[in-house]
Amino acid sequence: MASEEKVELKRGLRDVYIDRTKSSFIDGKVGKLLYRGINIDDLAQKSTFEETIYLLLYTELPTESQLKAFQAELIANRALPEDILSIIEIVKDSHPMDVLRTGVSALSAFDPETEDISTEATIRKGVRLTAQAPTIVAAHARIRKGKDPIAPSTSLNQAANFLYMLFGEEPDPRDARLIDKDFILHAEHGINASSFGARVTASTQADLHCAVTTGIGVLKGPAHGGAAEEVMKMALDIGDEDKAEDYVRNLLKDGGRVMGFGHRVYRATDPRAFHLKDDAKELGERKGQPKWFSILESVTKVMEPYTRRGICQNVDFFSGAIYYLLGIPDDLFISIFAMGRIPGWTVQVVEQFENNILLRPRLQYVGEMDVPYVPIEDR
Ligand code: ACO
Repeated sequence: MASEEKVELKRGLRDVYIDRTKSSFIDGKVGKLLYRGINIDDLAQKSTFEETIYLLLYTELPTESQLKAFQAELIANRALPEDILSIIEIVKDSHPMDVLRTGVSALSAFDPETEDISTEATIRKGVRLTAQAPTIVAAHARIRKGKDPIAPSTSLNQAANFLYMLFGEEPDPRDARLIDKDFILHAEHGINASSFGARVTASTQADLHCAVTTGIGVLKGPAHGGAAEEVMKMALDIGDEDKAEDYVRNLLKDGGRVMGFGHRVYRATDPRAFHLKDDAKELGERKGQPKWFSILESVTKVMEPYTRRGICQNVDFFSGAIYYLLGIPDDLFISIFAMGRIPGWTVQVVEQFENNILLRPRLQYVGEMDVPYVPIEDR
């Protein structure tokens, strides 16, 4: 007979607060997001990814000289040890997220402070991983096509350098700005699934490389970081805005989910989606391919009854179209999210270490009790 124990189950930890944070604030009812108190709208429009990383890691916006020194620190840490490039070559047939996860994990063997879990060392490692991650992703994207990796730029910012290492030429500044904004919008988001995973790892006092490796693994799933790739696959499947209505209705009728819609916390449109929406529209027009945005608009129209129920566009609804229009292969989309999120994981890990408690919830046992052990010859 199963246990009679009465417990209050909080499946999925829905609406459970597990700690306090000073890194980001989300109001899911009105669709508001702040990093260190600053509205994401201001950061998306006026800031850069470098400045936003600084804000998250060091708690306030940098002065001009602080920002210059910080940019130099990022640039100085971009190159990968040769052995990491050899590892990428060995695992090159894996999904880019698996390669990124493996690369970050392997970097622990080369970092001078891997096991130091002090705040200062954790932040320094977070900066190094933020600098190194785009190099892993871009190197893999080239190695798997039989091309040589491109050494990181010593002058471009994070976003432009990623596109440069991926395509082998300096990007149009407008394209680089789109990735820069995308990184800002993905940088931090409280105790989302991957940050929770990173915090669980940190709660055992494992180090940042372990926590970021966990975060990358958790992010990979389509319910979290994988949605951008799925949204663009859906748009390609639909193919024409006139077909969107039937496609979405059939999908929903069969119990499917429209990717890029819905969020555990937001009941209003994800504030990050507004910025990417305008960008996806403008980029589509600039590249002479406005149809993808039109398809997404048609999907949005069919989803209106869901939107009224609080299942609204999330950050990934438009990001996939932007990456696609920039010529980025679809299996790299989640890795772009991961590159942007490393500062957020770092901040969450720092907060976990600073007031640590082992994250160890319970499961209610509902199986058989006191089952006799039957010797193998009697089974
Ligand atoms: N399409 C259709 N219906 C949906 C969707 C969707 N995208 N999202 C939620 N619903 C419905 C569910 O079917 C469920 O309906 P029911 O109550 O009639 O059974 C109801 O809304 C609640 O859904 P839950 O799964 O309980 O909500 P939860 O908070 O657990 O899920 C999640 C959130 C996983 C993001 C979900 O909305 C989803 O699967 N969305 C699509 C994937 C996606 O876009 N993920 C990216 C999230 S943003 C990010 O990680 C950066």
